[in-house]
Amino acid sequence: MAELGTDIQKAAALLRKKELVAIPTETVYGLAANAFSDEAVIKIFSAKNRPAFDPLIVHTHSVAAFKNIAVQVPNVAYQLAEAFMPGPLTLILRSAPQIPLLVTSGHNSVGIRIPRHPLTLDLLQNLDFPLAAPSANPFGYVSPTSAQHVNEQLGDKIPYILDGGDCAIGIESTIINLVQNEVEILRLGGLALEEIEAVLGKSIRQVKTSSSNPQAPGMLSSHYAPRKKVRLGNISELLKEYQPHEVGIISFSTTYSNIPAQQQVMLSKAGLVEEAARHLFAALRYLDTQPIKVILTELVPEIGLGRAINDRLRRAAF
Ligand code: TXA
Ligand code: MG
Repeated sequence: MAELGTDIQKAAALLRKKELVAIPTETVYGLAANAFSDEAVIKIFSAKNRPAFDPLIVHTHSVAAFKNIAVQVPNVAYQLAEAFMPGPLTLILRSAPQIPLLVTSGHNSVGIRIPRHPLTLDLLQNLDFPLAAPSANPFGYVSPTSAQHVNEQLGDKIPYILDGGDCAIGIESTIINLVQNEVEILRLGGLALEEIEAVLGKSIRQVKTSSSNPQAPGMLSSHYAPRKKVRLGNISELLKEYQPHEVGIISFSTTYSNIPAQQQVMLSKAGLVEEAARHLFAALRYLDTQPIKVILTELVPEIGLGRAINDRLRRAAF
């Protein structure tokens, strides 16, 4: 198992030695390495069992540091950064020559994000290189929202987990592509589409997911999935097909009286999508450990973070 702690200097020393460190962010935990070092970055791919075609997001502490990571940064990037960074937003920009091809998977673009978690911001300010970091889970599985989640699955592969508590948002960053002529959204996430559109003063095109096309990295239809089968629909209707002991339930704000309490997770009693986002991944992980056959779940309102929740539920159920 990895050591858990809040020692920034220890984390920084390991990263300088090209070791991996798991880091807290407000979205999900990341598995970080020196973004300028091939030797360090390759360890991320092997620890996660991640295919080389899936590029990594580069994390930095300030907009001023973008110049070390990206080139030809358009004005709209600064406009979005001003409004939302640090925060749950990743911008895809033209990559600078010093970014290893491993990080970009050979594309000429790079994802950049300034995370808002104080421990990780502090860590980044102590380093003279940015951190490449995907979510700290085995490839294809649900992202971790606590240090314990990371330790359970990757603890034997990393020396240190910076423990920043439970993630405040709980769903991965929203990814916006700025290398095409048109602003487009590649992944719905922890920053609501409505907020971005309000700042830009126009609606944004959304790129569809694909079941196989590796040219559209991170857009796989089946992803973010627990090992148990997930079925998405009307929970009351789906329940008719199973015995009570066979099912786990993730509902938005309903409980079911004929199903044992330990087999149910209600995402938000008050019916708030932000609260539901915070609880979603822990709910999937919890039910994945229960002696049940199937996880039954339902869509939440398609507004704000509800869009990202529904995206993850669809991919978990695909
Ligand atoms: O909230 C987050 O974004 C978390 C935290 C740790 O920052 N990170 C995260 O990383 O979710 P990851 O690797 O699990 O997902 C990042 C997605 C991947 O699906 C990847 O394909 C996409 O971002 N991506 C990264 N660089 C890209 C690029 N240059 N072009 C298109 N997509 C890119
Ligand atoms: Mg991921």
